[in-house]
Amino acid sequence: MIVLGIETSCDETAAAIVTEDRRILADEVFSQIEDHRPFGGVVPEIAARKHLELIDGVVERAIQQSGVGLDDLDAVAATGGPGLIGGVLVGVMTAKAIATVKDKPFIAVNHLEGHALTARLTDDVAFPYLLLLVSGGHCQLLIVEGVGQYRQLGTTIDDALGEAFDKTAKMLGLGFPGGPAVEKTAEKGKAGRFDLPRPMKGRDGADFSFSGLKTRVRQTIESLPPGDLIEQDVADVCASFQAAAGDVLVDRTANAIGMFRLRHTPSAVPKPALVVAGGVAANKTVCERMQTLALEKGFQFIAPPPKLCTDNAAMIAWAGIERLRLGDTDDMDFQARPRWPLDPNANNQEQRKKA
Ligand code: KG4
Ligand code: ZN
Repeated sequence: MIVLGIETSCDETAAAIVTEDRRILADEVFSQIEDHRPFGGVVPEIAARKHLELIDGVVERAIQQSGVGLDDLDAVAATGGPGLIGGVLVGVMTAKAIATVKDKPFIAVNHLEGHALTARLTDDVAFPYLLLLVSGGHCQLLIVEGVGQYRQLGTTIDDALGEAFDKTAKMLGLGFPGGPAVEKTAEKGKAGRFDLPRPMKGRDGADFSFSGLKTRVRQTIESLPPGDLIEQDVADVCASFQAAAGDVLVDRTANAIGMFRLRHTPSAVPKPALVVAGGVAANKTVCERMQTLALEKGFQFIAPPPKLCTDNAAMIAWAGIERLRLGDTDDMDFQARPRWPLDPNANNQEQRKKA
């Protein structure tokens, strides 16, 4: 099986070709960062227009690089949501057009499922596993029971972690996107310098909250001597922020591991995986903290390579393959979805907030 995947839900225009035996034949990602940087964040209208301008070329390059032709494809998959609707529409329309002309099945992939199943593409992880999904728009702990089968254990009640990274970077003048900048700057900082809160730590359950942490970062910056921030202060804020976020992730994920164990006992699933996914999973400190926790709790630890943690189309092609293997394809009347929770039964405050 060979599937073409298309990703256009945020500010990456991406196309990839992936095979059922887990080979990535092409993985083209065109980042629009330079177009959005002057605005300090992604501008939906600019993103949609840019996707429209770029998508044909990006798909063409992926096809050329892969060495397979459109006729060799078994299906065409595209992110069908959640995301910025203008961009999602461009990807969905493109995939439907190719599928129609070439008479191939069309698959509308949930972007979050793309992140969630990446560990099966890279590491062949078996179901069930525990997933920490940390991206710009989401912060969730889920049990991945199977393709299309998710049990949400916790979510953020306010900001996503990637959002908190981005806002911290903005307040410190580190530019956009913030996550990688905060990580790099933190390398030279002292994590113990500022006493930042660990929201939700010690509480039952696996929900998150990051808005209080963000506020304290702002107050901390305001408490520094007036004038330009000095380099060491900036580095210390970044390191302190990352340490606080890391502590919260460890605490919440430890609870989620307990919840996972209530459902899947060690005798039934002796060595499950703790998988991290989404853009923030590209952060080394986050991965190290999660790896230590996994080892302590007798879980394997899986983090896909950073390039497959941030938005890409290989994960969409792979999720397409997983769906195609189950005969689960979509009709041409599929409508792009701005919101699309993985676990429809979850009481999803995050989804409500974005509504
Ligand atoms: O999954 P993703 O590429 O897009 C969404 O679906 O949201 O995640 C983007 C988020 C951004 O908030 C970005 O700042 C964050 O992931 N991110 C990082 C790192 N790389 C990307 N956060 C912390 N450390 C990183 N190295
Ligand atoms: Zn994403």
